[in-house]
Amino acid sequence: MAKLIINGGSRLEGEIAVQGAKNAALPVLAAALLTDEPVIIYNWPAISDVYHMLSILEHIGAYVGFEKDRLVIDTRRALRWEMPDKLAKEIRSSIFMMGPILARFRMARFTYPGGCEIGNRPIDLHLKGLRSLGVNVTETGGHIMCEGRRLKGGDVHLDYPSVGATENLMMAAALAPGRTVIRNAAREPEIIELQNVINQMGGDVNGAGTSTVVIEGKSRLGGFTYRCMPDRIAAGTYMMAAVVTDGKITLKNVIPEHLFAITSKIREAGAKVDIYDDAVTVTGQGRPKEMHLIETGPYPGFPTDMQAQMCTAACIAKGTSIIVESVFDNRFKHVPELQRMGANIVIKNNVAVIRGVERLHGAEVTAMDLRGGAALVLAGLCAQGVTVVDQAKIIDRGYETFESELSLLGADIKREE
Ligand code: UD1
Repeated sequence: MAKLIINGGSRLEGEIAVQGAKNAALPVLAAALLTDEPVIIYNWPAISDVYHMLSILEHIGAYVGFEKDRLVIDTRRALRWEMPDKLAKEIRSSIFMMGPILARFRMARFTYPGGCEIGNRPIDLHLKGLRSLGVNVTETGGHIMCEGRRLKGGDVHLDYPSVGATENLMMAAALAPGRTVIRNAAREPEIIELQNVINQMGGDVNGAGTSTVVIEGKSRLGGFTYRCMPDRIAAGTYMMAAVVTDGKITLKNVIPEHLFAITSKIREAGAKVDIYDDAVTVTGQGRPKEMHLIETGPYPGFPTDMQAQMCTAACIAKGTSIIVESVFDNRFKHVPELQRMGANIVIKNNVAVIRGVERLHGAEVTAMDLRGGAALVLAGLCAQGVTVVDQAKIIDRGYETFESELSLLGADIKREE
């Protein structure tokens, strides 16, 4: 069981080139199934979620080649429309395969997906949307059978702007005859990336980034070359490393506009943020100030994937901060772990009230989910003494070379397998 051992107290300083975005790469990998021509992806993040998606593609029959800094995927020989149970359970994003597999084979068989334990994560919106596109969905004994002989364009209203459902439906609709309109669509930047990719394949998608996405289905799509956008959550995590260690970190290769919700809270916490064309510098100004209210929401709201990291900063802030988690129903699993490190946090339902303490102290804690695990590492960086973060492999799902980047910035951190 891998662990990260952190001797806290170092001030982090330096520059990082931010990795490619996990949440952009995963749906784009699924989109490789929409064509039988080769697909090339640059700047892909070498994280375990991506390797899991590649294993699923290989199981389906795709060729996956690692060439220098690029990935080559060729699905010409893809033949399986059944998702392997074990792989599907490893990663929630396996659900993105449902739309493309259906579009390609007009059949798909799935188990309920796994992924981070951050509450009840149903897939009803995905299934309801697919039914609106003429797919016959039956659910038996934990399996979902989709029969899509009559797959066609349709009108979908999402009850909630789900990122995954929006992407899944865009991909199914890209090869469904007729027009599909997705209303109350998610507006995350990753949706725009997927639109650009589908259009590069010869598809016809409009409206991504707004709440209405319109897709004119095509009978076939071609290959594409994609350069992964920078990961706004990885960037945000390193920015918080500067805040909690009173350090100075420059993130290169970022899209500042994607970080506004985060930079605004970092400024509220009293740190200095300098924004350049494609870089951001965060400079700590001593102990953070309280952040009165952070409420997570769909983009452009505050990202739920940054909630845990903000929680760590709130733990050592001068006053009391309130965090409301409005996207997921059980995303405070890092809180009992932070409490072991001396944090003063009270939780009621989806609200956390955090009274800042002068200093956290080292403890043995467990990463329960990806971002919660990153938050514990941040806590370890600013705590007094040694922190051991167990189940560190969860953090590898989303961060490429996390501890080596932090070491380069001056952290005293090492991994033990
Ligand atoms: C994506 C991101 C994840 C991020 C999340 C919210 C990827 C690979 N992952 O996850 O990092 O935390 O967006 O920004 O892009 N819901 C339903 N029914 C559904 C689908 C979703 O009730 O069929 C609910 C979920 O339980 C959750 C909310 O909708 O409460 C948002 O989920 P969703 O936007 O779908 O998240 P993911 O796409 O899984």
